[in-house]
Amino acid sequence: MNTQTYSKKLLKHFRNPKFVKKVRNPDAIGEVGNLKCGDVMRMQIKVADGKIKDIGFQTFGCPAAVASSDMVCELAKGKTLEEAKKFTNDDVVKELGGMPLVKIHCSVLGIQALRKAIEDYERKNRSKS
Ligand code: FES
Repeated sequence: MNTQTYSKKLLKHFRNPKFVKKVRNPDAIGEVGNLKCGDVMRMQIKVADGKIKDIGFQTFGCPAAVASSDMVCELAKGKTLEEAKKFTNDDVVKELGGMPLVKIHCSVLGIQALRKAIEDYERKNRSKS
């Protein structure tokens, strides 16, 4: 879903993101970079009973990156790791009411960081057992 401008919903998530924060004692971290612009996204998760109990991110990215990552966190919070793995960037962009095609490469940072954080969690917990 592509539009020429940022939607009202996207701008709301950019101006007032709920998940720009550090998670206390995170269980896992996912960090990714945008090769096109050099911006970095860092996402932290806290997991309990197989579910994402807390989630937060930090980035120097643009409005599309901030809003998408905020939406990723909103979708993922309270979900099981298996459910969270199934989210796609299309789900995120649709939830935000679309975005300009040229910003899609920014919007993927959130979902990529979430996947890396889940991988990090699974790797750490595999080595514990
Ligand atoms: Fe760098 Fe969008 S321009 S994340």
